Amino acid sequence: MTMAEKTRLRLDRALAQIGLGTRKEVRALIKKGRVAVDGEIITDHGFILTNPGEAAVTLDDMLLTLRKHTHLMLNKPAGYVSAHKDNRFPVILELIAPELRYRSLTSVGRLDRDTTGLILMTTDGELAHRLMSPKYQIVKTYHIIYAGRPFSEADREQFRLGIMLEDKTVCLPAELEILDESDVLLSIKEGKYHQVKRMLEATGRKVTYLSRLSIGELTLDPELDIGEYRLLTEEEISGLYASVKLELEEY
Ligand code: URA
Repeated sequence: MTMAEKTRLRLDRALAQIGLGTRKEVRALIKKGRVAVDGEIITDHGFILTNPGEAAVTLDDMLLTLRKHTHLMLNKPAGYVSAHKDNRFPVILELIAPELRYRSLTSVGRLDRDTTGLILMTTDGELAHRLMSPKYQIVKTYHIIYAGRPFSEADREQFRLGIMLEDKTVCLPAELEILDESDVLLSIKEGKYHQVKRMLEATGRKVTYLSRLSIGELTLDPELDIGEYRLLTEEEISGLYASVKLELEEY
């Protein structure tokens, strides 16, 4: 594939990719003459943008930013697995509209089937890789409800020093914020298998509810109901790229 071919992009696809609507909805907008490229109204949905990075694409005179990658946040419901396919349980991808999942959306880390909350999905593999890499120590914060003896100041110190799991692995320092006697927030910088549950187990407690609230600076939008998702804002996207020292690519 030559460079010239690589950057050619169908107008309807470009607009669906930034979340303007389904492929069908986007085509209807184009047909109605609401979309212009470089000042010229385009009514053919198969129109090809030969240089999407340079084109000024507008919807009703509003200038749109075309992005090479798609990034979204999902409020994961319990019962769904963080995988592309599963024989027994529904997968998180089923919650995403087809026009956003035609390219491979990768989830940044996994949540257990019974865990709810923030899942970040992106088509940028390098961004996903860096956000999960121990090198960047991205902090993930979880809301936990647990069974067992209420946490104390001494426990907080223990988490700060590094909890030793039952298999003798020592965790990186973590921040425990006590909300009440069975409710805490825990911020960790790594993503070992069942890490939060195992950390609490190592202190003799059992997680009864687990929900992820944030990944780095990205916080779960409180407007998102369980099972809902939305595309990230420009500000959220640039914050994520900056946090892992990655240049933000457009076209
Ligand atoms: N830690 C866990 O134990 N489970 C999750 O789903 C996420 C972090």
